[in-house]
Amino acid sequence: MNHPYKLNEQGHLMIDGVDTTYLAEKYGTPLFVYDVTAIRKNAQAFIKTFESLRVKAQVAYASKAFASVAMLQVAKQENLSLDVVSQGELYTALQAEFPVEKIHMHGNNKSYQELEMAVQHDIGCIVIDNFFEIELLREILEKNQTTVNVLIRVTPGIEAHTHDYILTGNEDSKFGFDLSNGQAEQAFTILNEIDSINVKGLHCHIGSQIFETDGFVMAVQRLFQKLSEWSQKYHFTSEVLNLGGGFGIRYTDEDDPLPLENYVEALVKEVKKQTDHYQMPFPEIWIEPGRSIVGNTGITLYSLGSKKEIPGIRNYVSVDGGMTDNIRPALYQAKYDALIANKADHPLTEKVSIAGKCCESGDMLIWDLDVPSIEHGDFLAVFSTGAYGYSMSNHYNRFPKAAVVFVENGEDKLVIQREAYQDLARNDLSYE
Ligand code: LLP
Repeated sequence: MNHPYKLNEQGHLMIDGVDTTYLAEKYGTPLFVYDVTAIRKNAQAFIKTFESLRVKAQVAYASKAFASVAMLQVAKQENLSLDVVSQGELYTALQAEFPVEKIHMHGNNKSYQELEMAVQHDIGCIVIDNFFEIELLREILEKNQTTVNVLIRVTPGIEAHTHDYILTGNEDSKFGFDLSNGQAEQAFTILNEIDSINVKGLHCHIGSQIFETDGFVMAVQRLFQKLSEWSQKYHFTSEVLNLGGGFGIRYTDEDDPLPLENYVEALVKEVKKQTDHYQMPFPEIWIEPGRSIVGNTGITLYSLGSKKEIPGIRNYVSVDGGMTDNIRPALYQAKYDALIANKADHPLTEKVSIAGKCCESGDMLIWDLDVPSIEHGDFLAVFSTGAYGYSMSNHYNRFPKAAVVFVENGEDKLVIQREAYQDLARNDLSYE
């Protein structure tokens, strides 16, 4: 197995200079541990590539991948911008004192309250998703006597899934305005007539966990076809082009992602080609990576518990978490690699399947993992759980949410406390 971590002299898995066995004992399990050095490195890989290409850009961290006050403080320190999709994410950003002008708000059903909060805090941009939202925003801007920058989210008819991308004439998606059926243009003309709204450009997001650049290149081509029409018809120039996120990462040896720099280079190259072709000014480029900034930087530590051996069929080993802290295997059949953190240098002699502890047969984290001789109390480290792990965690079976620790240069710091049972029952009211 291919992982970036070192072992110490006891054969324990280390993360950025700290022994994971020590962390599991100190903070308990399940425990998310993030390598903050690696988060900073990923953020800078995007930022530096734009800089080296001399392209004005914003790299907006998609906070849905993992948001907490500490995480958004790190994003702020790394000069990232921020993509939020709810009042909760916006609230967390404000708690982290994230610069409001660098916050962009998404969502296919933003509420009046969400939009008003965004407007009142004067955030950098609202990504307009549908006609209903335009009317809400018009009303809110009038009431608050203020203005706002917007991007128009369009569906360019390209949907990418990992290695595949499909072209759909008429994109069947709940997000954004269709480019091909005139709805995007209709939205543009409505928005363009509202004095309190400044249309900065277009946005598209073609999918997630994408391993190739072709889909992005095609999306850029489609956006420019439309922009050239609008430039002639309405004298509109897109100051900004937001090309979304979706850059793939490696979960197991089956995945073969590109270096982050390659995605940026391919996008910039195509935008250059299109602006030259249509003789349009080069726009500011925004991207919204989530998974590729945090995915590989987080691991989850669990304690091994019960075993069930079915001779000739399979051996199950259960851990003290599961689909409550990582729903991705159950939801998407996502695959993960893992090892025994306190026996990372032991020879692999057994094959076991790792089960979660929820009352649900589908709560399996990893099938057929090679492990050394294991016993109750060993710690399992599952790799690449940094994106959409904690952020999609839930309270099924009334399990409290796990704790999160940040590690940087040999120092560890608790950044999200483990939930207590009182937290679970906090909103419950008696019926006696
Ligand atoms: N921008 C927009 C508009 C998005 O919808 C998303 C992800 C992103 C950016 C960030 O995409 P990323 O770079 O993280 O791939 N829960 C799923 C992923 C859902 C992604 C939804 N949108 C998972 O666990 O794989």
